[in-house]
Amino acid sequence: MAIQSYVGAFLLLLSFSSTINAQVFHIGKYGVKGDGRADISQALLRAWKEACASTTAAKLLIPKGTYALSETVLEGPCKAPVEFQLQGTLRAPADPFRFKTVSWVTFQNIDRLTVSGGGTFDGQGKIAWAQNDCNLNKNCRTLPINLRFNFVSNALIHDVTTLDSKQFHVNVLGCKNVTFQRFTVTAPGDSVNTDGIHIGRSVGVKIIDSNIRTGDDCVSIGDGSQQIFVTRVNCGPGHGISVGSLGKYKNEEPVVGIFVRNCTIIGGTNGVRIKTWPASPVGVASDMHFEDIRMVDVANPVLIDQGYCPWNQCQAQIPSLVKINKVSFKRIWGTSASQVAVKIACSKRVPCDNIEIADINLAYRGPEGPALSECSNVRPLITGRQFPPACAKIAS
Ligand SMILES: *[C@@H]1O[C@H](CO)[C@@H](O)[C@H](O)[C@H]1NC(C)=O
Ligand SMILES: *[C@@H]1O[C@H](CO)[C@@H](O)[C@H](O)[C@H]1NC(C)=O
Repeated sequence: MAIQSYVGAFLLLLSFSSTINAQVFHIGKYGVKGDGRADISQALLRAWKEACASTTAAKLLIPKGTYALSETVLEGPCKAPVEFQLQGTLRAPADPFRFKTVSWVTFQNIDRLTVSGGGTFDGQGKIAWAQNDCNLNKNCRTLPINLRFNFVSNALIHDVTTLDSKQFHVNVLGCKNVTFQRFTVTAPGDSVNTDGIHIGRSVGVKIIDSNIRTGDDCVSIGDGSQQIFVTRVNCGPGHGISVGSLGKYKNEEPVVGIFVRNCTIIGGTNGVRIKTWPASPVGVASDMHFEDIRMVDVANPVLIDQGYCPWNQCQAQIPSLVKINKVSFKRIWGTSASQVAVKIACSKRVPCDNIEIADINLAYRGPEGPALSECSNVRPLITGRQFPPACAKIAS
C-alpha cells in the first residue's frame, strides 16, 4: 500500500515535471476563500507581486471556487516566467458604474506569461448590455473589456473561458508572440458589441482550436496587426472574422500577413470580411488569406467592404484611401443567408490589387433566386470551381 502510493506520487510528479520547478503562490495563503463574497483584488495583487518577483518560474494558483474581483491590473516586468492558473471562476462587478476604467482584468508589460487552468472570467455583462446606446449616441459610455493584454510577449493563453463581457471580451495591444489555444468565448448572440478577440498593433498572434460564441465579431483585427494566424476556430453565433474597420483614425499602421484557415462560421451577419471607412486617410492592408472556411447560414460569407459606414456616421460618398492588396479567398463553402454570397466592393480611388478567388461553393435558397457574386473596382484572378459565378455582377 505504502509502496503503491509512493509510486503513484512519483508518477504524478513526473507527469507535472514541466512545472515541477515552479514556485506556487496559492491564493488561499493570502486569506482568500472561494465563496464568491469578498472582493479578492487586494489579495490577488499581493500574490501577483510575490509571484512576479520570484527569481524562478512562478505559478499563481486560484483553485476551484467562485471569487468576486473588481478591476485589476497585473503588471510586469516579472523576474521569471509566470503562470496565472485559474481553476475557479472570477466574477466582475455587474454594475458598470463600479469601474473607474474601461478594463476588468489587465495583464501588462509581461514577458513569458501563461494563463491556464480551465477557469472562467465572468464579466456579468447583462446589465451593461441593456444600457449600451452606441448605435444612437456617438459619445456613448465605453464599457469595460474582460481581459486586456497590453505589451505582453511570448505568452500562451490556453484552456480558459471568458464569459459575458460587458464589451469586447479580449483586447490584445502592443503584443508579440501571443497564442490563444483551446480558448473559449461565450456570450449571447444578441449581446451588444461583445467582440471575441480584438487585436491591434501586435505581431505574431495565433488563435487556434478555439470556440467563440458572441454578439459581435468573433475575431477583429485592427491597424498595426502583423502575422496573425486564426486556425481551426469555430465562430457562431457572431459576426465572423474581420479585418478592420480600418481608416477611421489618422496615423493607423499597416495590416500585413493575416492567415485564417480551417474555420467554421455559423449564423450571424458576416463570414470573412475586410472593412474600411469611406473618407479615410491613406492606409495599407495586404497579404491576407482566407482558406478552407465552412459557412453555415451566414448573411455575407465573403465580403470586402470599402464603404463601411455603420449608423451613417460618415461621409459615404468620399472613397476610402486604404489600399487593399494581395488577398486570397480559397475553398470557401457552405450556405449563405442572403443572395449576395460574395461581395468585393473596393475603393474607386484605390482599387484592390492581386485579389484571388478560388474554389467557392456557396448556396442560397431564398425566394429571389440563386446566390450572386458582386464586384466593384477590382479585377480578381479567378480559378477553380465557382458557385456563384465569380463577379458575374459588376457594380460601378
Ligand atoms: C513564443 O512564445 C512561446 C510561449 O511562451 C515560446 O515557447 C516560444 O519560444 C516563443 N517563440 C519565439 C520565436 O520566441
Ligand atoms: C485544414 O483542413 C484540411 C482538410 O480537412 C486538412 O488537410 C489540413 O491539414 C487542415 N489544416 C490546418 C492548418 O488545420
